Amino acid sequence: MNMLLYIVTILSAAVAAMAAPTYQSVSGAPIKTVVQLQQTGTQFENLITRTDGTILATRIDVPEIWWIDPADPIHIRVITIEGDVVSVLGITETSPNVYAFNAGNVTSQGAVDGSFQVWGLDLTHEEPQTYPIAKIDRASFLNGIATLDPKTVIVTDTNLGLLWKVDISTGHYEIFLQDPSMAIPEGSNIPAGINGVHIHNGYLYFTNTAQMSLSRLPIAKNGTITGSIQRIAEGFMCDDFDVQPDGTVYLPTTSQNTVIRVSLDGRVQQLAGTADSLAVGGGTAAQFGRGPHRKKTLFVTTSGDRFSPISGTLMEPGKLVAIDLSSVIS
Ligand SMILES: *[C@@H]1O[C@H](CO)[C@@H](O)[C@H](O)[C@H]1NC(C)=O
Ligand SMILES: *[C@@H]1O[C@H](CO)[C@@H](O)[C@H](O)[C@H]1NC(C)=O
Repeated sequence: MNMLLYIVTILSAAVAAMAAPTYQSVSGAPIKTVVQLQQTGTQFENLITRTDGTILATRIDVPEIWWIDPADPIHIRVITIEGDVVSVLGITETSPNVYAFNAGNVTSQGAVDGSFQVWGLDLTHEEPQTYPIAKIDRASFLNGIATLDPKTVIVTDTNLGLLWKVDISTGHYEIFLQDPSMAIPEGSNIPAGINGVHIHNGYLYFTNTAQMSLSRLPIAKNGTITGSIQRIAEGFMCDDFDVQPDGTVYLPTTSQNTVIRVSLDGRVQQLAGTADSLAVGGGTAAQFGRGPHRKKTLFVTTSGDRFSPISGTLMEPGKLVAIDLSSVIS
């Protein structure tokens, strides 16, 4: 496997950090804009929070990863992927300060077959380094990504309705699991099946956008599936999400413009946003902060509702928001 290292371009991006609105959410939890892009049609697609408190947020409309410090949102470092791709999607930490992410072409026509690759990002050196890990020619839409072990990631294919397993040290890949719960149902008008994926405490959690569902399956540390797929809850729009230590899932509902909490017993509670508000309009992914004082702050990336404007017209540039859930979480 060619592990050529690309030195990436770092820019200091001057972005709209001007007086951003603070919305009150349904629960009373304040929603604060950390960073907002400048034009409609832009989108933050996914994110990962780091132990130093900073955040890596991916862009689906340009091949960039934005490295944002919520405590200093003016000084953003933009990591450009030099890989002849348009989009960056899911991102996961595979070992401390080393990440794997999906990149490919997602255009207004949809995802382009054969354009997808799994990449690495190494932040252990002075300068960030990105490098291709595996080009998956048969992939149709690599989207979510989760770390199984420091050598292995599990990747969702949103069009094919399956999970790929990728050895990030060799680039070897194979289909890990394909199941009807991951597929786009026949006749569905939502062109996306399995979407987000996270592995946590012996379970692999996943959403299916077209099936409007959250499911999980038991998985051993060595990757063996040890039981059947359990549908936890359904009936909401979904993309990527966060899983807490007790298995509770926090999830933005994309075009429904809210953030919900789903308990393992299937209970669904609305925590933030409303259908007619852009506060978390078109939420694409959520992650709790990992820095000091940020464990009860849920960071959410958005598309600004560009695919489903409120009342047919209301949308905004993509943004990263911080939702303070300290009044909601004990
Ligand atoms: C992906 O998009 C880039 C930039 O537009 C283009 O050069 C490349 O050929 C595309 N790849 C595929 C497989 O379509
Ligand atoms: C993987 O782990 C499971 C559960 O601990 C065990 O039953 C199985 O034998 C293991 N498989 C391999 C190939 O090590």
